[in-house]
Amino acid sequence: MSSPDLPTIEAADPANFPLDSFKIAIAVVLSNALHLPLSTAFSGVDYGKKGVDFTVAVPRFRLKANPAELIENFTSTFTPNHYLERCIGDAAFLHFYVRTPTLLKLVLDRIHLPPSPSRPSFGSNVQGTGKKVIVEFSSPNIAKPFHAGHLRSTIIGTVLSNISEANGWDVVRMNYLGDWGKQFGLLAVGFERYGSEELLAQNAIMHLFDVYVRVNRDAAHEKESSQQRLTDEKAREVFRKMESGDEATLSLWRRFRELSIKKYQEVYNRLHVRFDVYAGESLVRSERIQAAMAALEAKNLLTDKTSKESDTNWKETKAALKKGVPDSVDDGDEDDASGEAPAKAVDLSQWKLGKPVVQKPDGTTIYIMRDIAGAFQRYEEYKFDKMIYVVGNQQEAHVAQFFRILSLLDAPFADRLEHVSFGKVNGMSTRKGDVKFLEEILDMAKEAMLAQMQQKEDKFQDVEDPDATADQIGMTCVKIQDMRAKRIHSYNFEPQRMTSFEGDTGAYLQYAHVRLRSVERRVAPTVVLPDDLSQINLDLLAEPKAREIVFILGTYPDVVRTALKTYEPSNIVSFSFRLSHAISSAWETLIVMGQERELAQARLFLYTSARDVLASAMRLLSLSPLSRM
Ligand code: ARG
Repeated sequence: MSSPDLPTIEAADPANFPLDSFKIAIAVVLSNALHLPLSTAFSGVDYGKKGVDFTVAVPRFRLKANPAELIENFTSTFTPNHYLERCIGDAAFLHFYVRTPTLLKLVLDRIHLPPSPSRPSFGSNVQGTGKKVIVEFSSPNIAKPFHAGHLRSTIIGTVLSNISEANGWDVVRMNYLGDWGKQFGLLAVGFERYGSEELLAQNAIMHLFDVYVRVNRDAAHEKESSQQRLTDEKAREVFRKMESGDEATLSLWRRFRELSIKKYQEVYNRLHVRFDVYAGESLVRSERIQAAMAALEAKNLLTDKTSKESDTNWKETKAALKKGVPDSVDDGDEDDASGEAPAKAVDLSQWKLGKPVVQKPDGTTIYIMRDIAGAFQRYEEYKFDKMIYVVGNQQEAHVAQFFRILSLLDAPFADRLEHVSFGKVNGMSTRKGDVKFLEEILDMAKEAMLAQMQQKEDKFQDVEDPDATADQIGMTCVKIQDMRAKRIHSYNFEPQRMTSFEGDTGAYLQYAHVRLRSVERRVAPTVVLPDDLSQINLDLLAEPKAREIVFILGTYPDVVRTALKTYEPSNIVSFSFRLSHAISSAWETLIVMGQERELAQARLFLYTSARDVLASAMRLLSLSPLSRM
């Protein structure tokens, strides 16, 4: 039976959001009874709580009549239709229950429709069509550790890119490498002393980090023992040469960069992370930086700043330097500001953003200026409609500063910038106190999973590639731990808990998917789905559990849309667990095996649909849904 026509409402898109049909149906009865414009009525329909499908808070319409009377009238005259089954009043609320057969049909049909341009695969929508977003994420610093902040940025950025795409946006995934600054002068000096071509080829990231730590030690030693600071002076000189385009020094640096990217890519591939562009601080053109400086000058935004004034910009670097290895790319240090000439700064105290230095006394460029000029450069190149910076909250001030400066410069794209911030990870460190390299963390999670899998001998034998499977589950655990909560919360890195099968972990999620797969395998070939899915008798899915699962499935496109509004991967994670829990509580009532054929088929269809949607959500989260484990 086909569904009766519903009016079109601009804010609704029932082709991609099947539950919108019910919202429209509610809006129709509301607008008739309460004499409201359809669109107003539509915007008042929310999801209900605790078993209620939809709820309308009547006072939000600010009607003149008494709400209690209105509700009484409404409910007593309500007549069920093809979409709506029941309506009850509850204080100032109207609760609606939709008609189950219509729900099952609309949702399950939509899940299996082949995609077309205006009707992409289930969960996706077209609201971003024709718009371009740059998502900048990961952005590690060459020769420095890939730390937990970079890992979070990598995970969150990848997922936000996927979510943007699912909402129809054209996405440019950009990695903004920390590949410029005085530290590369230091690294070049270090490489001359301690470098090995062989080790560089083997693992550039690891080797350059080693070299960097050693040469930093030299510099620190000279400083402490009040010797002449040869290392530092030389580093400065080399960096000056780089900034003035000296080919010999640049070619060494270029090799560092290329080999590091190659190594990063190995790890990114493992993580199912990819980039369209490897940008970097080094690629911000100096003409662009000069133009931005000139614009600051022209707008009278520059002030002098002496080294005595405290500087929010440099604090972090100084603290990191004390710990041995500077972690932030910010290349300012106390010596640079102590020369005769003052540094140039922009006074943002009016916005409580301090007075960030934008040019050092010796004229070399600085982190924040590269961000300012870099944003102009990206706009010229991509004409983006939106640009998202996925950067931890330790750089909150830095990002707020350069966003503010861009708007003071009247950059035409200033209101298209978003900072997606996130909290810290505690406890992600080795005994030595260094931040663990990403690979070590992934290996550890993988080993933990392998050990657990081996305990279930019978199943373990069926797993084709235990190593690869353990790796996938391990990475799922790392990612889920990271994205479970709202991103602004910091969390403790807890390997034990993270890799457990109990609780809302990555292992649990993979298991939920594997179990759905295994039902399909076990009942075949006795029970298989017909080629023509419309032959399946949905009326047989009469149990409340089945309805509950289908309703959750129906909310998926909404979840994907909301996740883009909030920039919260946790929205997708919560949905995945909600669905998995509903499925896991259905196994005992909705049995497929040994049932009469038509019933078995209907139930199998439900599980297959659930698996499709769960797999889709997992892929958005950059996970590979597994078939066996
Ligand atoms: N490379 C920087 C760091 O590790 C992060 C870059 C953030 N993005 C930016 N546009 N500043 O600290």
